[in-house]
Amino acid sequence: MTTRVLTGITTSGTPHLGNYVGAIRPALAASRTPGAESFYFLADYHALVKVTEPARVQRSTLEIAAAWLACGLDPAKVWFYRQSDIPEIPELTWLLTCVAGKGLLNRAHAYKAAVDRNRGEGEDDDAGINAGLFMYPVLMAADILLFNANRVPVGRDQVQHIEMARDFAQRFNHLYGAGHFVLPEAAIEEQVATLPGLDGRKMSKSYDNTIPLFAPREQLKKLIYSIVTDSREPGQPKDTEGSALFQLYQAFASAEETNAMRKAFADGIGWGDAKQKLFERIDAEVAPLRERYQALIANPETIEQQLRDGARRLRERYAISRLQALREAVGLRDLSTARTPAHVSAKLKDATLNAAARGSLPLAVFKQYREADGRFYFKLVEGDKVLLQSIGFDSPKEAGARVGVLKRGEFDAADPSVRVGEAVSADEVHAALAALVAAEADKA
Ligand code: TRP
Repeated sequence: MTTRVLTGITTSGTPHLGNYVGAIRPALAASRTPGAESFYFLADYHALVKVTEPARVQRSTLEIAAAWLACGLDPAKVWFYRQSDIPEIPELTWLLTCVAGKGLLNRAHAYKAAVDRNRGEGEDDDAGINAGLFMYPVLMAADILLFNANRVPVGRDQVQHIEMARDFAQRFNHLYGAGHFVLPEAAIEEQVATLPGLDGRKMSKSYDNTIPLFAPREQLKKLIYSIVTDSREPGQPKDTEGSALFQLYQAFASAEETNAMRKAFADGIGWGDAKQKLFERIDAEVAPLRERYQALIANPETIEQQLRDGARRLRERYAISRLQALREAVGLRDLSTARTPAHVSAKLKDATLNAAARGSLPLAVFKQYREADGRFYFKLVEGDKVLLQSIGFDSPKEAGARVGVLKRGEFDAADPSVRVGEAVSADEVHAALAALVAAEADKA
């Protein structure tokens, strides 16, 4: 079974060490684990919430794309794309908007912080707040749910957004049938999930305290030397706890190097020496990447081509069919299939005929089971032939609910939660289910 790993970076600034440590590096490591299918993208729609300078959005998109590639992303092995090249994402955003609780969105950290700021300044609650900020978590949920991602590597500040995505997914599943959406989980690198910036607060574009990932060597050194420290003299023992310098070091060093630095702190290393060590450690990791980055960024056409190609393949492989099934689920349907209730009875009649045509074939059975990945599956089997195979569900209840619907004879070949078995036709599945329905009816 594959695990889908998905993460995005908002294209609102220049890639910095925090993006590298918190997102790019762990994501690329995860993409190398066997059984992982990875989705890495540029969240340019998200950028519009904060940035109204078009040239900056464009430049940032180029820089972040080049950063992923320079750090080792192989577009032939992972899905690499730009959010705005996938029209199914904003389309799904609307479907999710209609199941998202407004009250839940009111409690989103970023939105609440903006409201609190307004209150503090005696302004109207929503003064100067665009609806994009309010809807941000729904767009992010669409990014994740469109591809049924299992794991989402993010910084700790994004965990609430993943929880919201789960909430929307659950509501959608509850309303329109279990199994439409897999519930995603946040994957946080415990040690380094949020890297401190120059001033000790979280490294973030919004605090203007970042260290650009590909700053030239001299600038990198200067920035590292500007990291805030306390006023202890060389020879005085220093605290590692709460030291931005130490945390940055730890994010790049091995466990051994970190222990040596911890000891150096206790032994009273001077801040200047500690900064030099930090600079050397970071530069050793970043220098080769920096070189590749410069080469990539000099050829924007190549990156544009790679992104378009990624989006096109991804839409063909998943996005288009997935959205089609979801449209179907909510009732955005082909009207020619709407001849109810005659259509329902016709289907039942067909089913009965099909059932009769099956003659004395043995009844198919549903088998529910759990895989090593901890998820709950079912299949519909006839002898040793697999007619239907489900996706993994979070609970036996969800899997059971899906089986319940199928046992009523309601099967839709576009349903994303089940796959028709190899060399099996949708008609065969209908017939097998109809036989089950008929057998139940006989019993009653
Ligand atoms: N909100 C994320 C951030 O600012 C970026 C993002 C957008 C994202 N969509 C996503 C991250 C989907 C993970 C999954 O860091």
